[in-house]
Amino acid sequence: MFTRRVAVVGAGYVGLTTGACLASLGHQVVCADIDAAKVERLRRGVVDIVEPGLAEMVVEQVSAGRLSFVVGAASAVSAGFPADAGAEGLDAEIVFLCLPTPMGVGGVADLRAVEVVVEETRELLAAGAVVVNKSTVPVGTAGRTAELLDRADVAVVSNPEFLREGSAVHDFLNPDRIVVGCDTAEAAERVAALYARLGAPTVLTDAASAELMKYAANCFLAMKLSYVNAMAELCERVGADIGDVTEGIGYDRRIGQAFLSPGPGWGGSCLPKDTHALLQVADAADFEFRLLRATIDTNTRQRQRIVDKVRQAVTGRRAGSLTRVRLGLLGLTFKAGTDDLRDSPALAIAALLRQAGAELVGYDPALATDPTAPADPDKTVLGVSEGPGGREIDGIRLVSDPLEAAQGAEALVVLTEWPMFRTLDWASMAGVMKQPTVIDTRNLLDPATLRRAGLTGIGLGRRGAA
Ligand code: UGA
Repeated sequence: MFTRRVAVVGAGYVGLTTGACLASLGHQVVCADIDAAKVERLRRGVVDIVEPGLAEMVVEQVSAGRLSFVVGAASAVSAGFPADAGAEGLDAEIVFLCLPTPMGVGGVADLRAVEVVVEETRELLAAGAVVVNKSTVPVGTAGRTAELLDRADVAVVSNPEFLREGSAVHDFLNPDRIVVGCDTAEAAERVAALYARLGAPTVLTDAASAELMKYAANCFLAMKLSYVNAMAELCERVGADIGDVTEGIGYDRRIGQAFLSPGPGWGGSCLPKDTHALLQVADAADFEFRLLRATIDTNTRQRQRIVDKVRQAVTGRRAGSLTRVRLGLLGLTFKAGTDDLRDSPALAIAALLRQAGAELVGYDPALATDPTAPADPDKTVLGVSEGPGGREIDGIRLVSDPLEAAQGAEALVVLTEWPMFRTLDWASMAGVMKQPTVIDTRNLLDPATLRRAGLTGIGLGRRGAA
């Protein structure tokens, strides 16, 4: 296997995972970020994001001399490699762009970060270098990047990532497929060869198809979830059970068991952004993608549906008032296994509950800190601030123990599927609540356990507990 000199621009969760994993496959990697303080922390082996196995891998690869960190893209692409890092030259042979592409005006992906880096590095790239876009970008971005680069001797490749937060390292090393899109076959093969050791099926295609494939995958997943959430609602109306229905359809290998759990709606930094961005791609191509629009609308409606369930459970009426009703929220991150709050359905639902007048107390294992422990200056959690009543996020008072969230609550609402919630001491929780009701938006908890603890459990589309 060839060892390549690889520069990775952007040390966020995609860039850092890509850099560390490529180093673990034997490549020589220099990873760049504009945040000098973050680079300094990474050099010391401090990883800010919660990603199982990533910090250990970073430390291991740094000490093996295969991974290093620099400030700024320019330092990574040129002369950033140790003198013994490969045959001739010290420049990067392959440059990965792992940059944020947030949702901009009107749902269009904002490509400013990509443009800035291209501008900064275009004259520094070695002849024959390959620029690889890993960020999720609108169809046509590879072509646009090539135009901005204006270098006939540098190829631009699209190589989308399919990493889930919370299992990014595992997903990188055990991919379902590798997708490499380029209009120059030689450059595509060079990028595909980086992953040869993983033995995954590889789709070599043109750049536009690779770019579209990323959106197509995320939007299909979103559609699957909106379908399941709608089906759960139908189950409630006809007296069926969503768990049995999804188990049954999941045995059909064309459908599959994965990604069929109903919930408070899909969120996170990818699915919401990518569904809107694909709608824009469709609009720009004068194509009315009604199925995708319905997927998004179903998801927006799901939040209101949860609020209605809470109203019904607490007041006995679908339109009952939640003014000054105290609710305990269990789980605030967009899914379990991460501390990421971006586009979290839990926070969107909390905002609706607050607008309805409810008083919210929240517990999340990723945000709970031991109040006696010294604050870790290396770790700041997005959105959490000190308010008059202690730590809070968007008006939700944060507590460090689930029992505190239950104290005096008229209902508990489970919003994230943290496994620890299954084994809470539910009898003690029931003992401190004003009204023993749990609305379980993830169908996580065992209804019999709740019943034994004296609680009424309400799930989504569950037989006898909806
Ligand atoms: C998603 C994709 O799964 C990855 O393949 C992709 O690489 C990534 O986006 C990306 O574009 O970078 P991620 O955002 O980490 O990964 O989250 P998922 O695990 O896909 O979950 C998305 C949302 O769906 C979460 O809110 C989650 O709670 C929800 N979900 C997931 C359900 O409600 N039910 C399920 O059965 C599965």
